[in-house]
Amino acid sequence: MVKNTEVNLSAIARDLKKAASDAVVIGVGQGTDGPFLLENPLTAKSVEALADSLKVLGITGAPDQAVRLPGLPETGSGILVLAGVGKVDAGGKVSGEGLRRAAGSAVRQLAGLSSVTLAFPTATIADVAAIAEGAALGAYSFTEFRSSKDGLKDPVANVAIFTELAGDKDLNAALDRARLLGKAVNATRSLVNQPPSHLYPESFADAAKDLSKGLPVKVTVWDEKRLEKEGFGGIMGVGKGSARQPRLVKVEYSPAKATRKIALVGKGITFDTGGISIKPALGMGDMKSDMAGAAVVLNTVLAIAGLGLPVKATAWLCIAENMPSGAASRPADVLTMFGGKTVEVLNTDAEGRLVMADGIVAASQEYPDAIIDVATLTGAQLIALGNRTAGIMGADSVTGPLKAAADRAGELVWPMPLPDELRPSLDSQVADLANIGERHGGMMTAAVFLREFVGKDKGGQTIPWAHIDIAGPSFNNGAPYGYTPKQGTGCTVRTLVAYVEDLLA
Ligand code: BES
Ligand code: MN
Ligand code: ZN
Repeated sequence: MVKNTEVNLSAIARDLKKAASDAVVIGVGQGTDGPFLLENPLTAKSVEALADSLKVLGITGAPDQAVRLPGLPETGSGILVLAGVGKVDAGGKVSGEGLRRAAGSAVRQLAGLSSVTLAFPTATIADVAAIAEGAALGAYSFTEFRSSKDGLKDPVANVAIFTELAGDKDLNAALDRARLLGKAVNATRSLVNQPPSHLYPESFADAAKDLSKGLPVKVTVWDEKRLEKEGFGGIMGVGKGSARQPRLVKVEYSPAKATRKIALVGKGITFDTGGISIKPALGMGDMKSDMAGAAVVLNTVLAIAGLGLPVKATAWLCIAENMPSGAASRPADVLTMFGGKTVEVLNTDAEGRLVMADGIVAASQEYPDAIIDVATLTGAQLIALGNRTAGIMGADSVTGPLKAAADRAGELVWPMPLPDELRPSLDSQVADLANIGERHGGMMTAAVFLREFVGKDKGGQTIPWAHIDIAGPSFNNGAPYGYTPKQGTGCTVRTLVAYVEDLLA
């Protein structure tokens, strides 16, 4: 389970001919006066001829356009690809995310070829890094469950980046980081893409151990007996309706030189039927992705370990399957959560916040400097922010740097408030809290519920906490775009790694 092939990334400085590959990709921008070729290594004569033919070839420079032409003698490759990078800024510069997407889109659409050279303009190592990341993210496919490989195209295996900066001292580190991020994001995607027949709490815990092999991390798994004994009422209450019993998985990276301590908590519902408050049939299959948050926090910690960052990072994977059965929680049941708070379950489909509450309490008990939780928590997230933008909520001291990290990583997040008036809507007639409240602004209501479980530090101050709702952006049920495939997207792994890097900078 979850064996992705890794793209082989390299950089070349000159002589495209010597480094011949199956295709050479150059960029086309969307200018105010029409499409134009971005800086590239072709001869002046070729550039002139191509520039004159852009319009008649229907080349617009729009994002995701990748037009194949016969190769030119100076490239030594059979195919020349003109890839759209979209609108460029007034200075003619393509943004980092513009390069990432263009590189990713081209590599994704060139699946079936073995080697590709990307010749986009690179003014800085950050540009090279963006191209490398795009390539690593675009070289992805999920074919584990196909009985025949006929008609399937393998992702591009080798990507060479043409850049004047090929000799730069920071180049190798940038390529290594891109490779590692690509690996972490692609592993997240593949976990999300697993069918729920194959990915259930126990097998998810096994996959976490498997992916951790060879890295300096410690993995601890709570099975249902230990969860019950230690009082993880949220995880048990959600999981007990399923024949596949729940798990809590802790993945710790604790380097000796650590200067900071971060806890990440992820929602790991391997399938969300809604339970007794069952969901409608239409689109229910997408709920295999309801463990995306747990996959994200797992792979974020593994990436941090792989990069050797001097931070103690712990992932808490709160894993259960939400099923209706004679053993399932009923609406009106009361659960005693880890730490002792009681919750009246008025809707068994609001299960994510129940497993997350246990995880947040457990994370708090280790006094981290900050807690960030990631969850496909609410349909209301999609109503508020759409398919591609994650909602971030919580303490400004965490959401501010998170937003900045997302901007740097090229991921879409948007801060939302946690208005105090939502809290009374979660009052219960019988328990400390109810698991549902105000429906309008339901993404924020869910976060206000989670906030109740954030613990205090040793000085009695509430631990800085942020919540990321990835219900929409974690799963793409539309067409692929940029470096984003269909189904699991792996979103927010890059943001969280960037957040930790920024923290240490
Ligand atoms: N897993 C869902 C949220 C979700 C919806 C994720 C769509 C991805 C796409 C969550 O467990 C859920 O069912 N939430 C309910 C909460 C409600 C009952 C308060 C919802 O959003 O409808
Ligand atoms: Mn649900
Ligand atoms: Zn759910």
